[in-house]
Amino acid sequence: MARAAFIGLGVMGFPMAGHLAARGHEVTVYNRNPKRAEAWLEKHAGRSAATPAAAAKGAEVVFTCVGNDDDLRSVTLGENGAFDGLDEGALLVDHTTASAAVARELAEAAAAQGAGFIDAPVSGGQAGAENGALSVMCGGEPADYARAEPVIMAYAKGCRLMGPAGAGQLTKMVNQICIAGLLQGLSEGLAFARKAGLDGEAVLEVISKGAAGSWQMENRGKTMLADKFDFGFAVDWMRKDLAICLAEANANGAALPVTALVDQFYKDVQGMGGARWDTSSLIKRLA
Ligand SMILES: NC(=O)c1ccc[n+]([C@@H]2O[C@H](COP(=O)([O-])OP(=O)(O)OC[C@H]3O[C@@H](n4cnc5c(N)ncnc54)[C@H](OP(=O)(O)O)[C@@H]3O)[C@@H](O)[C@H]2O)c1
Repeated sequence: MARAAFIGLGVMGFPMAGHLAARGHEVTVYNRNPKRAEAWLEKHAGRSAATPAAAAKGAEVVFTCVGNDDDLRSVTLGENGAFDGLDEGALLVDHTTASAAVARELAEAAAAQGAGFIDAPVSGGQAGAENGALSVMCGGEPADYARAEPVIMAYAKGCRLMGPAGAGQLTKMVNQICIAGLLQGLSEGLAFARKAGLDGEAVLEVISKGAAGSWQMENRGKTMLADKFDFGFAVDWMRKDLAICLAEANANGAALPVTALVDQFYKDVQGMGGARWDTSSLIKRLA
């Protein structure tokens, strides 16, 4: 069992830290808004700390799961950030969906302090975090990964080292690129079915068993037909992720024409008041 710190008790971090405590790890949590840390302590065994540095002090593994690159820099490299408390030999594991560049930056900062770093973005959403069934894609040194994996498995159904620092984030970019085009296709298909006078639910039932089937079709098809988007993975978050993908493609020369277009469609959805709607709300533009 590890002495662990968990920084960022949002939709994802709250249940992930809970799974660590449930497995018997000794968990110290930090959240910027202390009310979330208090709520966590009401449900789980552990301690809370007043700053990321205080949470990290004495921990063998320090987890972060915050919003974006800047938030991540703030809770790690900032004043009273995790690096101010990180012990030599400790490991920083970041679950934020962020750029590969910030992952490499933190890996260097960790190495300078005699610590390890793993970028470990996740897929599986809120339900995956709550059910302990996330898919985790990692970047870093194999020896560090070997220490991180058994602890991460408290909330994962799969975890894999993809390469050096940044490789986890690059893999998460592939994940988001695949989802963006797929959701637009699903939206167009269901909007077409409606115009064609077909029974949408019947269409889903029959085509989901064939070559068009997907996680999105299984888990979002019915709610898309029912015009329900007040849950799930927010459009604002998706645009943050797609901006990271488009910037990386700009640097590595990959062509992402559909991803760039879908990003603009999400901008339309934001303009319709859908910033917090689930990403399947792309279909709203086609109504
Ligand atoms: N939600 C999903 O389905 C999902 C799926 C896969 C990946 N992700 C990724 O996982 C990460 C977290 O997502 P989430 O849904 O858990 O987000 P969230 O519910 O908005 O939580 C964000 C957490 O980060 C903290 N935070 C943000 N900026 C901070 C800062 N500058 N300083 C200190 N704390 C800060 C927040 O603290 P406060 O409570 O004080 O605001 C909160 O604890 C994101 O990178 C997201 O893209 C999310």
